Amino acid sequence: MGTMGANLALNFADNGGFTVALSNRTVEKAYGVRDDNPGLAERLVPTDSIEHFVATLKAPRVVVLMVNAGKPVDDQIALVLPHLEAGDILIDAGNADFNDTVRRERAVQGTGIHFVGMGVSGGEEGARHGPSIMVGGDRAVWERLKPLLEPIAAKFDRVPCVDWLGPDGAGHFVKTIHNGIEYADMQMIAEIYGILRDALGLQAREMADIFADWNTRDLQSYLIEITAAVLAERDPETGGPLVDVIVDEAGQKGTGRWSVIEAQKLGVGATTLEAAVSARGISSRREERAEASRLFDGVKVARAEFHMSREGLAELEAALVTAKIIAYAQGYATLAEASAEFQWDLPLGQIARIWRAGCIIRSRFLDDITRAYEAGAVVNLLQAPSFQARIEAGQEALRRVVAKAALAGIPVPALAAALSYFDDYRRARGTTNLTQGQRDLFGAHTFHRLDREGTFHHQWPKIG
Ligand code: 6PG
Repeated sequence: MGTMGANLALNFADNGGFTVALSNRTVEKAYGVRDDNPGLAERLVPTDSIEHFVATLKAPRVVVLMVNAGKPVDDQIALVLPHLEAGDILIDAGNADFNDTVRRERAVQGTGIHFVGMGVSGGEEGARHGPSIMVGGDRAVWERLKPLLEPIAAKFDRVPCVDWLGPDGAGHFVKTIHNGIEYADMQMIAEIYGILRDALGLQAREMADIFADWNTRDLQSYLIEITAAVLAERDPETGGPLVDVIVDEAGQKGTGRWSVIEAQKLGVGATTLEAAVSARGISSRREERAEASRLFDGVKVARAEFHMSREGLAELEAALVTAKIIAYAQGYATLAEASAEFQWDLPLGQIARIWRAGCIIRSRFLDDITRAYEAGAVVNLLQAPSFQARIEAGQEALRRVVAKAALAGIPVPALAAALSYFDDYRRARGTTNLTQGQRDLFGAHTFHRLDREGTFHHQWPKIG
């Protein structure tokens, strides 16, 4: 009965109209959830023990776990599993490393009990009033869950943002990539904020207006909307902007990191997502950064060439849109590769569709992704005709922003990674021919030739 669990229970009772049995390690908390919500009290049934909880549920049971990822999930499964029977469904609705989900699903195989890994996005508000829900596991189990989940999911044009995405860990994998994209989106916004603050010297209030304006066009999204709200907020203590007194150390619970680890394992370059995860890591070394800022105080950088003009702001906006497309292309490339590798047959267009409402990365832009997949086979989003045109239109702005930031000494790791990925991706003749030569020289790793079929090893001159 943490915030997410309590809100999800309230959502089931409120929007689903279901009677929900509540169980919590500290029993009083479950009673607290009922007592704090008198309007829903009839449909909330606190229980005193796992035995009581399971006995309260009508068979075949549906049990939803909402605890922190990792050991707490295994502990809860160990606690509840002995009381369940064939036909019951046990759902892990928290964030989870999909490898754990696969393992947990295998562990119950043959018992008749079904384990479902289910990604839920939307933070506290989403959990309470309508999250985006990414379901994995057995398809037949999804058919049973559908009537329970559709009423509690977010709606976009009255269509519920929930679907079965594939077997075993598919739901949690998609949620993990959602979070990797979430990290990239947030980091790129923070980098643009850095330019507005440090190169243009704007105040938080002024920046709030800029982001609010951007939220009316291509960038329209929940994350841009909350950026404007965070920048506009006043600190009740000092009366100044609250953002100015918040420590610049980003927390992370691991999901962004998982997305990057999986992308690496699959051999997909999700460089913008990686940059975003790394930036959080660097941010948490605050004292070290302070020391380095003193050490390199004298490093000369060019005077910032950013301009506080309509054109200047339009350039930043276009750069952010372009980098965002590239980041999403990387996330989607990871999903596509995982789909092939694990034979999930992930419905990529449908994933964008269920992300259009409820989740943290919800935006107008996701509709364009859905349409791109509907229009035909997509090798990589960057090659989809609609995105190709947008990249062509925005790439110069991205180049200028990254180049000017580099000259001005303003870090833009995610934006720069997006640009480099694009340039790497669009280059027919790369440079790893040299890498292959080196590998063959020191390790006889062999190489392929452009002009002949086969695998070759060369007798290189002896070095050293
Ligand atoms: C969501 C979010 C959520 C995540 C938080 C915090 O989709 O609702 O992704 O699941 O836990 O955003 O994540 P970090 O602590 O890793 O930033």
